[in-house]
Amino acid sequence: MPRSDAPSNPAAAPLDIDKVRQQLIPRRLGVKLHYFAEVGSTNARAQDLAEGGAQEGEVVIADAQTQGRGRLGRRWESPAGRNLYFSIILRPGLVPAHAAQITLMAAVALAETLDLFIAATAEIKWPNDILVGGKKLAGVLTEAACSADAIEYVILGIGINVNYRRDEMPEDIRARATSLADLSGAFVARENVLARLIHALDRCYGVLEQSGFDALRPRWEARFALRGKLVRVEHLDQWIVGRARGIAPDGALLVEDESGALHNIYAGDVIALEN
Ligand code: BTN
Repeated sequence: MPRSDAPSNPAAAPLDIDKVRQQLIPRRLGVKLHYFAEVGSTNARAQDLAEGGAQEGEVVIADAQTQGRGRLGRRWESPAGRNLYFSIILRPGLVPAHAAQITLMAAVALAETLDLFIAATAEIKWPNDILVGGKKLAGVLTEAACSADAIEYVILGIGINVNYRRDEMPEDIRARATSLADLSGAFVARENVLARLIHALDRCYGVLEQSGFDALRPRWEARFALRGKLVRVEHLDQWIVGRARGIAPDGALLVEDESGALHNIYAGDVIALEN
């Protein structure tokens, strides 16, 4: 019998970091877990640790974030007791021009892991969104510190909606977001998701470093949510409209304009103009 003061909703219980540790076989990623009940942003905290000399594979995990950040300066909703928010310090042997491939690599590991918890296929919207049925389930935010010719470190931040129910989401994201619990109809133990994901990231990161993004490309392409769709790509004050055709060996999004010219996109916001 549960104690009378125990939370009746398992989704409301704090993350049990010891359960994560028990499931982890520490390889390169997950060598050390830093757990906080609340931080501003796990990416910011990981950045501080990296600047202080933390080693590759250390992970910052928080049960809640007060200033969770998304790509392009957006806010990332980070209530306590529901979801996963974590950031991994990486010190990859990649040239700075390939730093963005970390996001693509993480999207593969993330989508493949989330599939284990739902009866649906998680898709990737270039470069960092994980979608199911067109709704956002998870996101990746990588932030790199580079010198002229080397990457000093990359902070790989991941947010996943786990037990966040539709009726708890703020109005403005409810129509666009989903969660593992909403998709599976059941409570999902965040500790299991996190441990499996760290393993999957470890393996995909190894492939990226040893063989390059091209070795992960078929797995990424198999989940590409925008294939053949009309999209508008905006970057700073420039934009193009065309059909999304796939991804190049170096990770650029390939967009074909109406004249048939193929554009390699390395940065920008992609808006689908059709479903
Ligand atoms: C996006 O889809 O725009 C990226 C969202 C990334 C959110 C995660 S939550 C953990 C880490 N800390 C942050 O402040 N952001 C990332």
